[in-house]
Amino acid sequence: MNFSDSQIVGSIMTDHNFETTDNIAEADLIFVNTCSIRDHAEKRVRARLQEFKKYKKTKPGLIIGILGCMAERLKSQLIEEEKMVDLIVGPDAYRDLPRLLTIAESGQKAINVILSADETYADINPVRLDSSGVSAFISIMRGCENFCSYCVVPFTRGKERSRDPETIVNEAKDLFNNGYREVTLLGQNVNSYLSESGTGFSRLIASVAQIDPGLRVRFATSHPKDLSDDLLRTMADYHNICRSIHLPVQSGSDRILKLMNRKYDRQWYMGRIEAIKKTLPDCTISTDIIAGFSSETDQDHLDTIELMRWVGYDYAFMFKYSERPGTTAEKKYKDDIPESVKSERLKQIIDLQQELSYKSNLADVGKSFEVLIERYSKKSGKELAGRNSQNKVIVFPESNYKPGEYVNVQVLSCTPATLRGSVLHP
Ligand code: 5AD
Ligand code: SF4
Repeated sequence: MNFSDSQIVGSIMTDHNFETTDNIAEADLIFVNTCSIRDHAEKRVRARLQEFKKYKKTKPGLIIGILGCMAERLKSQLIEEEKMVDLIVGPDAYRDLPRLLTIAESGQKAINVILSADETYADINPVRLDSSGVSAFISIMRGCENFCSYCVVPFTRGKERSRDPETIVNEAKDLFNNGYREVTLLGQNVNSYLSESGTGFSRLIASVAQIDPGLRVRFATSHPKDLSDDLLRTMADYHNICRSIHLPVQSGSDRILKLMNRKYDRQWYMGRIEAIKKTLPDCTISTDIIAGFSSETDQDHLDTIELMRWVGYDYAFMFKYSERPGTTAEKKYKDDIPESVKSERLKQIIDLQQELSYKSNLADVGKSFEVLIERYSKKSGKELAGRNSQNKVIVFPESNYKPGEYVNVQVLSCTPATLRGSVLHP
């Protein structure tokens, strides 16, 4: 989401005669788009700011701006703590950047952290910074009102609002006409997408898929409570809606899920997994897991481990619980699991996921997949890398193809992280 937001900021700044540079020493302006989701993310931003100090010394007019969730969460406090910061701009205030910049240029500190009920940046055509030219993000909604008890997002990103479907479809069409072959529709909870004209997510994704069978469509992320059968059927109807669903479970324990205010229980979640497997048998499933939430017992942890095995996740993002100021969990539940226990539980979760990912990859050896080539492989410049519909990376040696093309690849071997194969020539 931040990556996508940075492209919106890129567009606003380009319209005001700025350009991007790869050489930080050359920059007149440095914006850091920040994340507050865990304490670790914020610490990394602060470390990054220390690095920028030296540029400020060599270039006195240099302006440093903090954008995104940390700006929204800490507001003017951030300027007091980090003296070199000139601008603080929350996620809904990017249109105000040019005006704020004039203030900063006059030597004053400039802040806008006003959240909006309707800003979607629908009319802004993102500048595709750092893009492969093959795959792009399209932000379809902003904000979140689910208030999971551990999560800072509803406070930093404000009310949920959906972007007008026509602007989304037009953005996808433009991307396709410019050579892109994959779009990922982005939102904190895409399944609750609902436009003012009454278009829901299933209809939206079908309209994007109809643009061209050669345009792949992905989406992230889904809340289990809202993953509808209607969406699964729509996915089954379109070959180009990719067979991969990210369905964050967070915990396998009913007691913890309740404390987390996730609004579903283990049984409901398992029902959703069964529905996916029935409607889309070749679909991969990935998840997010938090280890060591307030009061989590060994048994709660084992419930998570057991659920992971039952689902057989293909991939997972796994985190230690990090208490966030202002959240319900911070106010009501003690962060009482010792760091060493959190680490041990996280390690067990990661080890298990490694095993599950490997098993999932081994099951693909011998199979063939349509791969959308994204890039030359990082390690050897001679190999190509792309992904199959299931969102797995496949690397293969072949010099006759290039990024943006589809090829059929047979998988010959794998590691827990990557599949390797060779192109099947027609
Ligand atoms: N501590 C740890 N992980 C968190 N996440 C969100 N808030 C926290 C927190 N306070 C994780 C959740 C979410 C993902 C984006 O980040 O798993 O799905
Ligand atoms: Fe945070 Fe829950 Fe919203 Fe996801 S659904 S952004 S975890 S509050």
